[in-house]
Amino acid sequence: MINWITETKGQFNRRMAWWREAKFGMFIHWGLYAIPAGMWKGKKVPGIGEWIMYRARIPVREYELLAKEFNPVKFNAKEWVKVAKNAGMKWIVITAKHHDGFCMFNTKLTDYNIVKATPFKRDPLKELAQACKEEDIKLGFYYSQTLDWHHPDGMGNDWDYNPNEKNFSKYLEEYVKPQLQELLTNYGPVAVLWFDIGTPTPEQARSLREWVHKFQPATIINGRINPGREIGIGDYKERGDNEIPPEKVEGDWETPATINDTWGFKSYDHNWKSAGILIHKLVEIVSKGGNYLLNVGPTAEGIIPEPSVDRLKEVGKWLKVNGESIYGATASPFGEFEWGYCTTKPGKIYLHVLAWPYNGKLEVSSLKTKVNRAYLLADEKRRNLEVKEREDKVLIKLPANAPDPIDTVIVVEIEE
Ligand code: GLC
Repeated sequence: MINWITETKGQFNRRMAWWREAKFGMFIHWGLYAIPAGMWKGKKVPGIGEWIMYRARIPVREYELLAKEFNPVKFNAKEWVKVAKNAGMKWIVITAKHHDGFCMFNTKLTDYNIVKATPFKRDPLKELAQACKEEDIKLGFYYSQTLDWHHPDGMGNDWDYNPNEKNFSKYLEEYVKPQLQELLTNYGPVAVLWFDIGTPTPEQARSLREWVHKFQPATIINGRINPGREIGIGDYKERGDNEIPPEKVEGDWETPATINDTWGFKSYDHNWKSAGILIHKLVEIVSKGGNYLLNVGPTAEGIIPEPSVDRLKEVGKWLKVNGESIYGATASPFGEFEWGYCTTKPGKIYLHVLAWPYNGKLEVSSLKTKVNRAYLLADEKRRNLEVKEREDKVLIKLPANAPDPIDTVIVVEIEE
């Protein structure tokens, strides 16, 4: 998607280069909602954890009291960044302010923030920025620019405030922009600004974009800054939550996704996807040209739930061996096969075999170029596999059993 203002295609490509290479990032939803963790007054509140204030129509004065209880003493920025790094994730996006309006950073614009309103008194974004710098992981911020159930002029709260009395442009100019300025000047380089839901009008979205780039011209802005689902103001298309397109999609795009069924921590959501499924989703997304931003929802103590950590470790182990087929790889022109997906790099096709062929022969149809050789990516000796070329297909002889039951990658070197 071409930037609508001031930037040439070349400049845009340079700004997007790291993101296109990175493919796999960590999303962190962390805020006061981790305390109720899906329960309010003894009852389970349906839906995603960070929406509890809305779903239970909790009055501002009541929800605010959670801040006095928020003391995540087990939070350790270095550990979180290590979890991301060991998973093979290249950047982190954390909620600076979610729809509940509580600020997870020190801000001069409201006392309703983690430093001034909680016994914790620390600024986790500062600590994360430092830890990310040390580990060479990029850091970005999620910022809810439209919904704010705490601020009288933010959108969405009609149980405390009268929607007709809201002055949204005042909120945008006098609250959102100065807060973004803080985020863009106090924490070092901000790799991504992740907006949500859509900004009400295109003019407002454009002025927010300009505002961000005034402070950090390199910051990548996600597609949910746009008023609707159209693209053009953000730098890349943000797909729906957990949504993977049915086929290859041109242009830059990302799927934000959950490991269980919530973003913000819920004590009783145990519906964890297996590591195998997460790897399959990563491969599918990369094979269709996208990035995968996978969420963790830390607890009110500051712990990333163990089931998430365990799974991410597994994904990281797989990426250590097979990362070449993911980082910097692009979509395959071939679509899906019965046995799996393909990713590509110049001169190479990576066959991701998720379903091992029972007869030990992998059939690759529609490969219309000359194959030089094929080998298992995990094989350090890169021993040639037997390849037979027939009119419109290639047959590769495989070991009887899948070396990696989750996804064995076969590298096919081709004539370009
Ligand atoms: C949705 C939700 C929000 C969540 C986001 C993540 O837009 O409103 O709670 O942060 O998806 O993609």
